[in-house]
Amino acid sequence: MEQVNLGLIGGGTVGGGVFQALARHGDLLAQRLGTRLNLTRVAVRDLQKARSTPFPASILTTDWRSIVQDPQIDVVIELMGGTTTARDVVRAALIAGKPVVTANKALLSAHGPELFALAAQHHVNLYYEASVAGGIPIIKVLRESFAGNRITRLAGIVNGTCNYILTRMKLEGADFQAVLADAQRLGYAEAEPSLDIDGHDAAHKTGILASLAHGFWVKPEQIHTEGIRHIDALDIRFATQLGYTIKLLGIVKDLGTKGRGPSATRGIQVAVYPALVPNTHVLASVNYAFNAISLRGDIVGDTLFYGRGAGQDPTASSVLSDLADAALDLRHGCHQRVPAFTPCGGSRGPACRVVPMEEVVSRYYLRLSVVDKPGVFAKVAALLAAAKIGISSVIQPEGHVGETVPVILMIHDAPNRAMQAALARIAKLGFVKAPPVLLRVETLE
Ligand code: NAP
Ligand code: HSE
Repeated sequence: MEQVNLGLIGGGTVGGGVFQALARHGDLLAQRLGTRLNLTRVAVRDLQKARSTPFPASILTTDWRSIVQDPQIDVVIELMGGTTTARDVVRAALIAGKPVVTANKALLSAHGPELFALAAQHHVNLYYEASVAGGIPIIKVLRESFAGNRITRLAGIVNGTCNYILTRMKLEGADFQAVLADAQRLGYAEAEPSLDIDGHDAAHKTGILASLAHGFWVKPEQIHTEGIRHIDALDIRFATQLGYTIKLLGIVKDLGTKGRGPSATRGIQVAVYPALVPNTHVLASVNYAFNAISLRGDIVGDTLFYGRGAGQDPTASSVLSDLADAALDLRHGCHQRVPAFTPCGGSRGPACRVVPMEEVVSRYYLRLSVVDKPGVFAKVAALLAAAKIGISSVIQPEGHVGETVPVILMIHDAPNRAMQAALARIAKLGFVKAPPVLLRVETLE
């Protein structure tokens, strides 16, 4: 039987999962592919480190270059993470004419255009199924299955760590820091957890999905990104009372075309923020480290992809899917079988642009901490009315005159610029005793 030799750079959570999954399903894969996937070398940082994965000592090295340059290695798997050495690894492998499989969304977000161009230049494929949503095959869906659709809306829970934290805060009233420590212990969180909780990891993934959906590279700085640090147990409770669940969402929305002829542009919203999702929407029930992506295509309609979004085995499953593709592509001589991006613009229709968040219209949940005294609500309402912003409902739990109480306002559709300006004025009112909490509401209709 033919065989494909694999070189793995990174033997941590995901690398260990790939080793174990290959050991478990090597025969099954060989049977299905007609080619054996043979993991011959593994690079790690520290040979002395105690490992839960039983890599044979004979295949371990600390020298990733010796793997990338080994003429016996057919495919390089980059599972070390980071954007500096990992970039060198991927570049070196592509230049050596070797297909690369990576799970590294931070790397693709920072250097995607360069790496995809390099892959094309050297007639090799760069595979990245594991970079978004762990075990859910969403890259394949966008690249292949929905090639015949325009993607009009994508809303995804794409960070397992944040979803795990928000779920446990809601269901158990758990403390943020304690739950984050559990996510780290379970192998969901990035080495630098602020990547997760400040929304950057979700932004990396949302950018990759947006680029696939709309055919233009979305730069990280174009993605409006908010994390979940400021979400309080109070917000989770009030959201529940109002019939919503707070989820960190990656959003990609086609906001329509402006202008006509060659100067026409298609506006795309690309953003990550915690949002109130109606409990009647299926995304509200996606709990713990599970991810889900709700995708609407103009031909297919609404679809939903659900599964484990982080952790050793689910992520390894996506790496195996890429390895299967790489093996078959090598066998059949397929280079760039499905292009990473099918650009819009020119003869292919209006050019796409990322719409700045200030121009996007949203619905909101606003929590104010105010002194309970006559005239307070009238002043807040007047400032909102002056900005042409409408209130759809109000909750104020009964308190005592003179005490600080939370007031929750649900706000009708308003442009983000107008809402932020009104909020800045409200925050300065003497009776507002803490920074206001503003969250968007995504009805996902
Ligand atoms: P990890 O557990 O920290 O593993 C990183 C591995 O890379 C370790 O084995 C480390 O060696 C090795 N390494 C680091 N620098 C190296 C160097 N210079 N030379 C050789 N080896 C080096 O990370 P992970 O969680 O497996 O994540 C790997 C990648 O998958 C990241 O890009 C991450 O974003 C992505 N990802 C992770 C998950 C998840 O759930 N964990 C899910 C999807 C995608 P030592 O073991 O000796 O320290
Ligand atoms: N830290 C990431 C998460 C790992 O929590 O979703 C999966 O990409």
